[in-house]
Amino acid sequence: MRILAIESSCDETAAAISEDGRKILSNVVLSQADMHAVFGGVVPEIASRRHVEGVCGVVEQCLKEAELTFDDLDAIGVTYAPGLIGALLVGVNYAKGLSLARGLPLIPVHHMRGHIAANYIAFPELEPPFTCLVVSGGHSLIVRVKSYTEMEIVGGTRDDAAGEAFDKVARVLGEPYPGGLMIDRLAQKGDPKAYKLPRAQVDGAPFDFSFSGLKTAVRNTAHNAAQKGIEIDREGLAASFCAAVADTLVPRAVEAAREFGDTLAVAGGVAANSFLRARLEKEAKKAGLRLFMPPAKLCGDNGAMIACQAYYEYLAGARAGANLNAVATLPISRSYKG
Ligand code: KG4
Ligand code: ZN
Repeated sequence: MRILAIESSCDETAAAISEDGRKILSNVVLSQADMHAVFGGVVPEIASRRHVEGVCGVVEQCLKEAELTFDDLDAIGVTYAPGLIGALLVGVNYAKGLSLARGLPLIPVHHMRGHIAANYIAFPELEPPFTCLVVSGGHSLIVRVKSYTEMEIVGGTRDDAAGEAFDKVARVLGEPYPGGLMIDRLAQKGDPKAYKLPRAQVDGAPFDFSFSGLKTAVRNTAHNAAQKGIEIDREGLAASFCAAVADTLVPRAVEAAREFGDTLAVAGGVAANSFLRARLEKEAKKAGLRLFMPPAKLCGDNGAMIACQAYYEYLAGARAGANLNAVATLPISRSYKG
């Protein structure tokens, strides 16, 4: 079964074609990051307009790379939640039009479920149940993946998502948007013990965490140094921040995975972070867990992960009609009900 899927939840216009879920025939991502960089973050209206301009070309390119035409497709998948509403609407409307015009079933896909599915593409042997640490620009969750379409949230951030914290710290250190990768690169040259930064705990909720205090501590450290005319050790501060994020996420994810079974996966843009990956590898090994970490290219937003998850949503019966709407906020545990 071949599914063409569209992803437009944030600042990447993406399309991909999957065959029977895990085989990806083509995967095209048009990033808008350069256009948002001058503003220091994603400007929602600009994102929507760029999706409108880009989506047809991205789909054409996707078909071309797979050496297929619309006639070869069996279904259309689309990210319908969560994300920037205007951005999502572009993909949703395009997918609706295509499904109507070609008489193909329309499969709505939750963006964060898509992130988890990046693991299925990278690791053919991985099947639910497992625990997944999902860390992106908008969400940070520990999820029990009970089946391909049944998820339970075990814990998550009480304030900022991990990626949001990375992007804000990047701004403090004068690095351009998107900041996560820049911080990662800076940190590799720094001493993770250079600065003492807080690791927050949430009373009575062992799998929940918080990043706002950490983010504020980094900002205060930089501002205090500037006021005193002391030059900041940027590499050291970036490394100390990465270490604090890893210290916050890894023990919780490992413990949650141990409680649920023997398998831990990671997903989302922040899952590309080298500190996080190194810590996960070390701690998962110590805990005797099987660990799955998709390559960096599949961690960030892409269409392949949506095309893959669309297959499993299709098997579970998810179908949308012409009244499909985009949803800005939706828990990962909520399946599409029509
Ligand atoms: O999953 P994603 O591509 O988009 C969302 O669904 O939000 O995640 C984007 C986030 C951004 O905040 C970006 O700064 C962060 O992932 N990111 C990283 C790295 N690469 C991307 N954060 C830390 N280290 C990285 N190497
Ligand atoms: Zn994402």
